[in-house]
Amino acid sequence: MLAIEIREPGGPEVLVPMDRPRPSPGPGEVLIKVSAAGVNRPDVMQRLGRYPPPPGASDIPGLEVSGTIEEIGANVGRWRPGDSVCALLAGGGYAEYAVAPAPQCLTIPRGVSAIHAAAIPETTFTVWTNVFERGRLASGETILVHGGSSGIGTTAIQLAKARGARVYATAGTAEKCAACEALGAERAFDYRTIDFVAAIKEATGGRGVDVVLDMVGAEYVQRNLESLAMNGRLVQIGVLDGPNARINLMPVLQRRLTITGSTLRARSVEEKGTIASAVFEHVWPLFESGAVKVVVHKTFSLRDACEAHRLMESSAHVGKLVLVVEGP
Ligand SMILES: NC(=O)c1ccc[n+]([C@@H]2O[C@H](COP(=O)([O-])OP(=O)(O)OC[C@H]3O[C@@H](n4cnc5c(N)ncnc54)[C@H](OP(=O)(O)O)[C@@H]3O)[C@@H](O)[C@H]2O)c1
Repeated sequence: MLAIEIREPGGPEVLVPMDRPRPSPGPGEVLIKVSAAGVNRPDVMQRLGRYPPPPGASDIPGLEVSGTIEEIGANVGRWRPGDSVCALLAGGGYAEYAVAPAPQCLTIPRGVSAIHAAAIPETTFTVWTNVFERGRLASGETILVHGGSSGIGTTAIQLAKARGARVYATAGTAEKCAACEALGAERAFDYRTIDFVAAIKEATGGRGVDVVLDMVGAEYVQRNLESLAMNGRLVQIGVLDGPNARINLMPVLQRRLTITGSTLRARSVEEKGTIASAVFEHVWPLFESGAVKVVVHKTFSLRDACEAHRLMESSAHVGKLVLVVEGP
């Protein structure tokens, strides 16, 4: 099969199309004939050599796919060959065939195309478990979503809004801010020209927000703490500007704040299966009703994965990038 290999750690050009043996599903796994694969920032980190696959995972990048089940392994009760699914993977998505643990597969939501479905699992699972489980965002509360125009951000804005929260966002240009507002953010602030701490204070009458979803880290940590209301929760899902921060902890004590976070990839199949069930119950109806849309900025042929990474690193996109496997 055609697959995209990371030849060595480096720039987008190290992503090269190769001929690889088709994988076989082990017990509890299914083999998916891939229609499309989502591209995520963690794939860029893996390509750079900073986010190695967990033990046992494929070295081929790609954390999510859509497609048709081709073969099932032992002890798979739920799925049959021919079923259309999207799936969360620990790796291996940039290929014509990929193996997925059965609990990490979901039927494609009604009304969503295979290409759009490939862009759902990674951001939806991440936002669900971080914003609603760890961050406990409830209807009527407020959230600040950093990187509002990212794949994660466009999902977080829409899900939070659809579940009754008031949403603020940050993004790097006026156009991206407008896109965040079109997706449901009450206000989006261009972090290059606006101090988001002051803007959040002003927008919330001095109160602050209940939850901050952050992927920047470093000097954002203190500013995020300043942006939180009493009993607020800071949920860290990335450290784009670095993992280290020297912070004043007094706001944590004074306003009884919680600092939490998680990564999805390293979690067990059982944990990911539990998240899949919650996502199916709470998020799938929102895709099917059209309340939440999959925002795909651009599609590329699988062979052109390097171009997709170039675009992602330019940060010119709004939403997701998807690799499409061409037919025979
Ligand atoms: N914890 C998890 O399980 C998990 C899972 C998936 C992804 N993630 C993380 O979530 C983040 C987004 O992933 P993605 O796939 O959605 O990537 P993406 O679409 O490429 O988004 C990255 C975003 O970060 C923004 N950004 C970069 N530097 C920034 C800064 N200094 N201040 C504010 N915004 C900044 C960029 O926006 P501008 O161009 O507007 O600056 C861009 O929208 C990444 O950090 C990724 O590692 C975590």
